[in-house]
Amino acid sequence: MEGAKKRVFSGIQPSGMLTLGNYLGALRNWVPMQDEFDCIFSVADLHAITIRQEPAAFRRQILETYAILLAVGISPEKSILFLQSHVSAHAEMAWLLDCYTQFGELSRMTQFKDKSARYSSNVNAGLFTYPSLMAGDILLYQAELVPVGADQKQHLELSRTVAERFNGLYGPVFTVPEPYIPKVGARVMSLQDPRKKMSKSDENHNAFVSLLDKPDDIIRKFKRAVTDSESEVKYADGKDGVNNLMGIYASVTGKTMDEIQREFEGEGYGVFKSAVGEAVVDLLRPIQQEFDRLIADKGYLEACWKTGAARAARLAGRTLAKAMKKIGFIR
Ligand code: TYM
Repeated sequence: MEGAKKRVFSGIQPSGMLTLGNYLGALRNWVPMQDEFDCIFSVADLHAITIRQEPAAFRRQILETYAILLAVGISPEKSILFLQSHVSAHAEMAWLLDCYTQFGELSRMTQFKDKSARYSSNVNAGLFTYPSLMAGDILLYQAELVPVGADQKQHLELSRTVAERFNGLYGPVFTVPEPYIPKVGARVMSLQDPRKKMSKSDENHNAFVSLLDKPDDIIRKFKRAVTDSESEVKYADGKDGVNNLMGIYASVTGKTMDEIQREFEGEGYGVFKSAVGEAVVDLLRPIQQEFDRLIADKGYLEACWKTGAARAARLAGRTLAKAMKKIGFIR
């Protein structure tokens, strides 16, 4: 694990079953990175309580998210895979960084604006300071690269700003991280409102495909996906629904937009939507089989996350100690 390889960190919230958006925008890129980089991946459970969670469901979601990360191919030997709340340095670092992050900077976060409008009865301080917790996740491990979907870019930029500010005051404590965003699949949109991103917390379950959806449900969701009143499978301005389906199909099959357009010339949307649905079913089948096997083996999952937390805590503890010493705390 230690060595000259670049360090990678990324996280995912266990706020519901992961979606095709999470997979195409992030998870799928994590898997090959394990061979090239020192990778650390976390189930960001502390992040998830910015939205109220029902305790029993939350516990299940954390367990399932951990299992799905293993099922998509994250290797607990090659990488460190842990639950964020098992490493207390995350909460401690978040407090330190809160004091180096400006109110104005946090106020500009579009995710805060969106979520505070959507959950207007619970605009808690955690929802506001969430980017400091996320910056801490990354900076604790001195990560150079952070593979995420396009929606996390603004948070990454803030992490860079905070790292640079801290380093400017105290000397080089943190590595300044770079985002790593895929060319296709970086922003998978809702199947019901293609101007919104596909989200696991969408109330309309037809708007997203969960990684554990049954084949029939996946096909049905794609058949019902919102398109437009035309019939040509073509990537063009104003055709948000079709563009999104083409993006998904391109990301899953590796085909270019031109190839897809030719493949469905003269076919109309029905045939195209079925093909996208089938491609996604084929993509998810082996992941679902592996998930079923893993979720039945709680002992194995526990052993993996215990090892992961111990390894993560060692690395995180070093950075936390260094930052606290620089600030002037008595160690
Ligand atoms: P989260 O849990 O919302 O999403 C996890 C990852 O999936 C990507 N993603 C998408 N990509 C494409 N299309 C979509 N519709 C889509 N929806 C989600 C996200 O960009 C993300 O990469 N704050 C983070 C979790 C986090 C984190 C971190 C990430 C916590 N600490 C440190 C990186 C580094 C979040 O809420 O992601």
